Amino acid sequence: MKDDLEFDMEMAREYDKGIRRALPTYDAMFRMVQSFLRAHVEDEANVLVIGAGGGNEIVTFGKANPTWTFAGVDPSEAMLEVALQKAKNEGIEERVSIYTGTVEQIDFKETFDAATCLLVLHFVETIEEKLSLLKTVKELLQPGSPFVLVTMYGNQSKPEFDERMNLWKSIWLDLTDLTQEDVNGMEESVRELSFISSTQIEELLEQAGFERVTQFFSTTLFGGWIAHSDK
Ligand SMILES: C[S@@+](CC[C@H](N)C(=O)[O-])C[C@H]1O[C@@H](n2cnc3c(N)ncnc32)[C@H](O)[C@@H]1O
Repeated sequence: MKDDLEFDMEMAREYDKGIRRALPTYDAMFRMVQSFLRAHVEDEANVLVIGAGGGNEIVTFGKANPTWTFAGVDPSEAMLEVALQKAKNEGIEERVSIYTGTVEQIDFKETFDAATCLLVLHFVETIEEKLSLLKTVKELLQPGSPFVLVTMYGNQSKPEFDERMNLWKSIWLDLTDLTQEDVNGMEESVRELSFISSTQIEELLEQAGFERVTQFFSTTLFGGWIAHSDK
């Protein structure tokens, strides 16, 4: 029988494949996020990674930026185990601290020079909980620090949302052997996630204390925003 870590690593490999189908610009998004962070931090940056499960931010940014340190937060122990294992495989684990829980649950003794929250906010159910997460991140950042938020977004009652959903499904059909029925089932699951509109996302970021809030990409159901904690 496979041990737990091997099982988790296999799940992570599946995740790495699946996320690039769900979000075809996943790697390009990472390159843009890295350029934004690099442009706005000093050499020795302490980066807070919300939803660090799977380790892709920590490993991608950690390898390319040897003077950065990372605090990875995620409620999923299995996903964090994978993040730590990937960091060890790349020899960067000394620059990585891992925290199990949500960002509000952790009593950090440090502040951060940058933060990312990639592909997490649509799992946070209510507007109040989303705002609480964003406010907590803002409080942990040094004034003026860069922050990147990437999430599924949109108003499900609008026709433009259906168009984006149809494109999302067409991409799955083109890239995989899944049937129309399979993809319709995936649509049902995705529609149960917590979507809010781009306007609401921008309002929440501003209410949480971020400024210069700017959308920098949109791919099918996903959007990304850059911002700075206020001074
Ligand atoms: C789709 S994965 C994204 C992983 C990684 N950020 C990436 O871009 O590939 C979503 C992650 O968010 C985590 N998550 C869910 N709710 C969270 C919360 N309230 N705070 C932090 N992480 C959360 C999940 O456990 C999961 O590891």
